[in-house]
Amino acid sequence: MHLFNYGEIRTPAFEETAMFSRSIGELTDIVAKEMYSFTDRGGTNLTLKPEMTASVMRAYIQNNLGEQQPLVKLYYIAPMFRQERPQAGRLRQFHQFGAEAVGGQHAAIDAEIIALACEVYSNLKIRNFVLKLNSVGCERCRPQYKQLLTRYLEKVRDRLSEDSRRRLEENPLRILDSKDEADRMLTRDAPLMKDHLCAECAAHFAELQEHLKLLGIPFGVDGRIVRGLDYYTKTAFEIISMDLGSQDALAGGGRYDLLVKELGGKDTPAVGFAAGMERLLMVMEKQKIVPPGGGHPLVFLAAADEEGRKWVIRTAMGLCRRGFACELDLLGRSLKAQMREADRQQASFVIAVGADELKRNQASIKNMRSGEQRSVDLRNLAAELAKLGDGP
Ligand code: HAM
Repeated sequence: MHLFNYGEIRTPAFEETAMFSRSIGELTDIVAKEMYSFTDRGGTNLTLKPEMTASVMRAYIQNNLGEQQPLVKLYYIAPMFRQERPQAGRLRQFHQFGAEAVGGQHAAIDAEIIALACEVYSNLKIRNFVLKLNSVGCERCRPQYKQLLTRYLEKVRDRLSEDSRRRLEENPLRILDSKDEADRMLTRDAPLMKDHLCAECAAHFAELQEHLKLLGIPFGVDGRIVRGLDYYTKTAFEIISMDLGSQDALAGGGRYDLLVKELGGKDTPAVGFAAGMERLLMVMEKQKIVPPGGGHPLVFLAAADEEGRKWVIRTAMGLCRRGFACELDLLGRSLKAQMREADRQQASFVIAVGADELKRNQASIKNMRSGEQRSVDLRNLAAELAKLGDGP
């Protein structure tokens, strides 16, 4: 997120219920069935946040974030709450990381958001994921398309699943991503939004695809990506993993040009995505990908005796300040046990010091990755470590 120049935003764990229902849509599953809502002692109806986009936009408006810069780029990592039926990849408290770019309508911003999401997975060397792209139109072209789709679905109404029949009145687009086999067959030839876009939405969609090609990001257009939240306009996308079960969406997002205004702010176009952390971890486990470390090489300072221990405590503090992560023995273990611990912790460097070494101001330092060992001047340790490469 920092590499793409997004700044972190943190929002409260709960907000007013009405803010979420207005943003996400009264008729969506999230609002109708899944929110953890409660009334506080003052009689205010509150909800544990089921997603971040609405909260971020509320904060954007309330704090006039748009006044400081034209395009506000924010990211978050936070717990979310949805009362869904728990199963693999679907939890009632889960974690999302995501990003929102607020203040521009150009397709280049959609492309950046998508690139950012994909880059997280590529960077972690995740395999077997695909980007599915769609456009869900805007307030000008969607109503007409909705009529067209409803007319098509009315003809097969009796054979649709109960869920889909209910959706026919409320939100016919959602029927297109029904998991029910019969529904899928019945909607096989249904009209799709992407083929009925107004000129502006069609141009935006074409431009986005151009940008993604420019960035070398592979994608497939899938007219059935409709998303489970109502605020989307134009771009909608999902990143699907073949290594997940039925809950196969690693991430989802899109453009939501009307939301800021809907929440009482100025007319402000925006686009973003959110990704499930637990689903990412499931895929990493399946693909045997080890999470990368914190980025600081770990130096293990081992002490051979009492003199060594004193030196280690002093030195660890100094090295931390120079940007090295340090570990030392706080359990009074033998030198041999400390070496085992350094190994277990996958330390980058190990320095073992006792009274003898201290007298000479020299000790041997071992690079645990290369196995290389050499003698260093203890008075100049940080510089010596930096010379060994892998420095902070
Ligand atoms: P969403 O599709 O509802 O979109 O959630 C995004 C991701 O969160 C999903 O793809 C999935 O990986 C994860 N997720 C959702 N529900 C659960 C759950 N119950 N258990 C585990 N993981 C889950 C949003 O939330 C939008 N706010 C995304 C967005 C940002 N659109 C624009 N900006």
